Amino acid sequence: MHVIIAENYEDGARKAADIIEKIVRDNPACTLGLATGSSPVGMYQELARRCREEGLDFSRVHSVNLDEYVGLEGTHDQSYRYFMNTNLFDHINIDKNNTYVAKGTGDVAENLKEFNAVLDRTDIDIQVLGVGPDGHLGFNEPGDTLYDGAHEETLEDSTIEANKRFFASKEDVPTHALTMGMGNIMRAKKLLMIISGNKQAAATKLLVEDKIDPHCPCTFMRMHRDATVVIEKKLADEIGYKG
Ligand code: GLP
Repeated sequence: MHVIIAENYEDGARKAADIIEKIVRDNPACTLGLATGSSPVGMYQELARRCREEGLDFSRVHSVNLDEYVGLEGTHDQSYRYFMNTNLFDHINIDKNNTYVAKGTGDVAENLKEFNAVLDRTDIDIQVLGVGPDGHLGFNEPGDTLYDGAHEETLEDSTIEANKRFFASKEDVPTHALTMGMGNIMRAKKLLMIISGNKQAAATKLLVEDKIDPHCPCTFMRMHRDATVVIEKKLADEIGYKG
């Protein structure tokens, strides 16, 4: 696992964008696995700038997203479909028909069937990841058992707490989500994790140690043969990581 220590958020966003840019330039018809959260927003802004100003071309790129809340329509401003549209897809020349975010409403079993079918026929060239404060990946919450394929998760209280800042009240935060499984994530050709801020300090400390712990799912990232983590210097200092 390769760890990049960025000077600050903007520097991390640029370094992460460099990695995605190389993949898109090398293979203009690549498939990007994308993630939501505040950590990748800067990278998405940088990719949009490069598309606008430097001709980075997304016209043949496909994408699939990590997860989606159960119960929110794609038009809801806290749904992950809405997040992806407003933070990235509306600002680059990607064809939205080539972007997939699991459906959060309707028949959950059918939605999962569709999500798994999409994942089964898709080779993800690079999967972008963030980390939850409890170490979750996508919405794979800590536990004795982790799952291979896309499935429904009941969100931990700490996850609901962390995400309530985006909703009017804690009661409005969905309690369930659909997520790629750990196997789907690990089968991506490359992994790119971006961690900003310090609410994931404990999980990041475990991640950079030599342990694989299902109670901190992000540590599975260590088993991937082509994984890069971008962390900010102040977080590296806080957890005593020197590289
Ligand atoms: C949510 C998403 C995760 C993401 C996490 C990190 O919980 N389901 O996939 O990794 O947020 O968010 P942030 O980047 O804001 O720390």
